Formats: sequence, structure tokens, C-alpha cells
Amino acid sequence: MIPRSKRQFEASGRSLPTGPTAGFTDVHCHCLPGLDDGPSDRIKTLDLCRALAADGIETVVATPHQLGRFEGCYDAGTIRDAVAELNGSLRDAGIPLTILPGADVRLDERIPRLIETGDVLTVADRRRYLLLELPHEVFIDPQSLLPGLASIGVAAILTHPERHVHLARNPGLVERWVEFDMCLQLTAGSFGGGFGQLSQDAAWTFVCAPMPILVATDAHDTAGRSPRMSEAYRLLARRLGTDSARILCVENPRRAVEGKELLMLARDDMPREVIR
Ligand SMILES: [Fe+2]
Repeated sequence: MIPRSKRQFEASGRSLPTGPTAGFTDVHCHCLPGLDDGPSDRIKTLDLCRALAADGIETVVATPHQLGRFEGCYDAGTIRDAVAELNGSLRDAGIPLTILPGADVRLDERIPRLIETGDVLTVADRRRYLLLELPHEVFIDPQSLLPGLASIGVAAILTHPERHVHLARNPGLVERWVEFDMCLQLTAGSFGGGFGQLSQDAAWTFVCAPMPILVATDAHDTAGRSPRMSEAYRLLARRLGTDSARILCVENPRRAVEGKELLMLARDDMPREVIR
């Protein structure tokens, strides 16, 4: 049985990982040079990769935007080639980071077909999880897309709902997608207020949502959109406890990259003040 909660994980006889705040996996990062709105060149990419490694991250899924305003700008093969080239550059530069291929995919009804044809990339190219981004300006319900994804064995990880104004103001909306195995990705920087008060409050609300949740950086650079994963881990550990913080920042991101089922936080383990 795949453990769906911390209790089941412990009951399975395995212990949750403990230890220092390192060994993070980041499933959402714009780190490839010159493709999207991430680093514009190789030097800035290496600067971002040094910042990711210094933040305790060991494995990164490179997730340039696909579809939406970036449709037709580069294809899946270009992303895979850029990942291979960056891994070579990291080895040459002595930066202890491994990059895997992926994409940050804008909501589009063609996604299931484009996954099947290999044109849209899933997390770590495993065809198990898709990073799904909603349009920022308006709310479009992704529900009609989810059965098509499920039919090809892919679960959506909805990216940064806490930074979507309509979802942040109506966090209960995500519960309608639980039956389609949707997961949530919260942004590391949101927990400390890096995206404003609304997103910060919403991040602490969404962390209690009744679905699998993981934290990722969605980093683009070393300044305003820097990684902040270790900061998120410390904030989550202080409020939810170390085991929950490790599920959100270490275990679930690693499971997503490995194509394994994600763990749920046990709601009755949460401090009363974070349950709304
Ligand atoms: Fe992103």
C-alpha cells in the first residue's frame, strides 16, 4: 500500500526522513538560459544554480513555460537538450545540482494529446505529474481538463494557487478537484510574504487543503524571484512541525520526481490556528 498520510507512512514501518534542512528537490524552477522569462544567459543561469544549491536544493526540475504566450517558442526536444547542456556546465563549474526536464504548462484543452505526442513535458519526463498553470488575469476552471489527464495516467499539480487572486480569495474552490487527484504546489517565497499579504495568508490556508501538497521555488533569478526553500521549510517546521515540513518540502517533491504517489498531511496533526 502506498502511504497517503504521515500516519500511514509511519505505520508502514518506515520513518520519515529527519536531519538538516538540505536535500530538497525543487519541482518548479525557471533556470534554463534564454528560453523563457528565467535567466537570459548562461552566466545568470549558473548564478541561479549556485543560489539553488546554497539553499539546500540538490535536484531541480527545469520548468520553462509551455503553451500560453510561449507557445511555439521552443519545443520539448529543445528543453531536453538545454537540460543536458546545463548538467554539463554544472559539472564543469563544480555546482552540486542535478537538473531534470519538465515544463510549467499553461491551461489548454489540448494538453492530454500534447503529452501523448511528446510535445508537452511532465515533471521529470515521467508522464505521472503535470505542472498546470492557470491564466493569471481571469479564473478559468480547469475541471474539464482533468478527466482527460486521468485517462492517460497523469495527475495535475496546480501551480501557486495562493498567487491567483480569485483562488486566494476563494480557497475552497480547489476542493472540487480533489476527486480528480489534483495536487497543489505552493511557492516557497509565499510563506514569508514575498508575494504580498493575500498570497501569504492564502498559502497558510491552502497548506490545509484536503489534497496532496508540495512546496517549490518557482525561482527565476537571484533577486526578486530567488529560491527561498530553506526559509519556507523553517517557517513550516515552526508552525506545523518538522515532519509536516519535510513532507511538503522534501518528501513530496522527491516523490513527484520519482513518479510516486504523494503523501497527505494529517489534518488532525495541524495546530488549530492553521485550520480555517
Ligand atoms: Fe513558473
